[in-house]
Amino acid sequence: MPRALTIDEIREVVEQYRAAARNAIDAGFDGVELHGANGYLVNQFIDSNANTRADAYGGSLENRLRFLREVAQALIAGSGDALRVGVRLAPLTTLNGCVDDDPETTYLAAADLLADLGIGYIHIAEADWDDAPLMPVEFKRKLRDAFPGVLIYAGKYTAERARAAIGAGWADLVAFGRPFVANPDLPKRFASARCLRSMTATRCSAAVRAA
Ligand SMILES: Cc1cc2nc3c(=O)[nH]c(=O)nc-3n(C[C@H](O)[C@H](O)[C@H](O)COP(=O)(O)O)c2cc1C
Repeated sequence: MPRALTIDEIREVVEQYRAAARNAIDAGFDGVELHGANGYLVNQFIDSNANTRADAYGGSLENRLRFLREVAQALIAGSGDALRVGVRLAPLTTLNGCVDDDPETTYLAAADLLADLGIGYIHIAEADWDDAPLMPVEFKRKLRDAFPGVLIYAGKYTAERARAAIGAGWADLVAFGRPFVANPDLPKRFASARCLRSMTATRCSAAVRAA
């Protein structure tokens, strides 16, 4: 049966994050991204329905964000520069049982906390399955107001939606998963005038290939 980490184990895990960041920088990486999304460990502390702890790491919003804060601080210390740290968050996905009762409040507080720490970017993982609801734009605008660093979004984007997001100002960068897996030259394809505005990334790629 899975069990909650003890406080001593939490300290150990935070130290492991610090060492991992230092090792990554020593090995020549430019920075490290903390995976705080999609039901992984940090996400399990953040979301109210996943975190059942009754100690300083559970219950109140401040407590649920404590592990995120400590790990982010460890990554900053390990990498030696807050701007070399990014954090991936998933406010609305329900993967691996991580669901929050009030995602807007929770993740705006997380963005505030990360803004205070001065990290380089937040990477929002949006739900990427076909019939997933879109994250409300109003929520994204509030994240923009809360976080002055770079905001990256990923999940089911097309070239057209990505341009609209950057044009609207709530996204600085858009990440692509599946279209990139199949098309290593995706940026070139997006730049191609042959990509009709109404096409999805995948269909656009097929059209460029066929032309
Ligand atoms: C083959 C594949 C494996 C993935 N594995 C993970 C994973 O292990 N953990 C995770 O958080 N996201 C994973 N993702 C999701 C991506 O990180 C990213 O959020 C997603 O692909 C973006 O949506 P898009 O594919 O619609 O562009 C995976 C995506 C793909 C295509």
